[in-house]
Amino acid sequence: MLILGIESSCDETGVAIIKGEENSKKVSLLSNVVASSLSLHSTTGGIIPENAAREQIKFIIPAIQEALKDANAKPNDVDTIAVTYGPGLIGSLLIGVETAKSLSYVWDKPLIPTNHLYGHIYANFIESKNDSVESDITFPAVGLIVSGGHTDLIFMKGHQKIEWLGGTRDDAAGEAMDKVGRLLGLPYPGGPHIEKAALKGDSKRFNFPKPLIGSDDFDFSFSGLKTAVLRETQKIEKLDEQTTADICAAFQKTVIDILVRKTMKAAEKYDAKSILLGGGVAANQALRDAIQTSIEDSNQQISFFVPPRNLCTDNGAMIAAAAFFNNKEVDFKKVDANPNLYF
Ligand code: KG4
Ligand code: ZN
Repeated sequence: MLILGIESSCDETGVAIIKGEENSKKVSLLSNVVASSLSLHSTTGGIIPENAAREQIKFIIPAIQEALKDANAKPNDVDTIAVTYGPGLIGSLLIGVETAKSLSYVWDKPLIPTNHLYGHIYANFIESKNDSVESDITFPAVGLIVSGGHTDLIFMKGHQKIEWLGGTRDDAAGEAMDKVGRLLGLPYPGGPHIEKAALKGDSKRFNFPKPLIGSDDFDFSFSGLKTAVLRETQKIEKLDEQTTADICAAFQKTVIDILVRKTMKAAEKYDAKSILLGGGVAANQALRDAIQTSIEDSNQQISFFVPPRNLCTDNGAMIAAAAFFNNKEVDFKKVDANPNLYF
């Protein structure tokens, strides 16, 4: 079965073709095209939704053509179309959704509207070159989604059996990274720049609060932490390179400590056999290492999965993969973009 996946919820236009066999544990990637308007948003220090939507219009058709060409496929080879219908920016979402609906009608193919957040978790179900023999994901699993717009913990008893455990009450982890990056004068988006600067920093020089780290629930809060970083930077007369690196190291470590503590707590409570990480912030090596170390320290039989970096940030392959495992076709006439979609 070939699925063409379309993702246009924010500033990336992602189109991919995946192949899934009946009963396969993972799907394989035939092509994956991502056109990003990130450089445009760097100039404005953040995303202006209308600009992102305009860029989506420019990229969507060429991205579909390229994805078909790279997969050596013709429209008729495609069995199903999958598209992100939310959450995201309404203008951007509409471009992908309306394009997918048109293709569903013209090519006469079924359409599977897909939740972007599921997509980030299902990026783990795409075969990758690094896969070892024992790389099958076993359930029950706990998933941590950390992106620019979301921070959520989910419990997966199996495919189509997903339960939301908790999420951020204010800023998402990636959003906090981007805001702190901005106040430190780093380019947009802040996450990768904070990660880079943190490598040269001393995480012990600053001590930031860890909101909700010990709370009974699976909720997160990063807004107070961001304000604490702001206050600290305001006290500093000149923000030199070393001080910036030290703040980045301390801030990044604080975010990671909170994410790891809550994820491990969920894994223990629900007796998880696997932990699945997803979303743009999952590209962060320090976070990946911290989860792995924490699992080893816990002496529990938990396998850790994280997608390759290019599949952590938004892409069409993760949408096609989520659609494959949660196969729910909907008549194209009934599919609408839903910017506020959640679990
Ligand atoms: O999943 P994504 O591409 O888009 C959303 O769905 O939001 O995530 C983008 C977020 C941004 O906040 C960005 O700063 C963050 O992912 N990010 C990172 C890294 N790479 C991207 N955060 C920390 N470390 C990274 N290496
Ligand atoms: Zn995303």
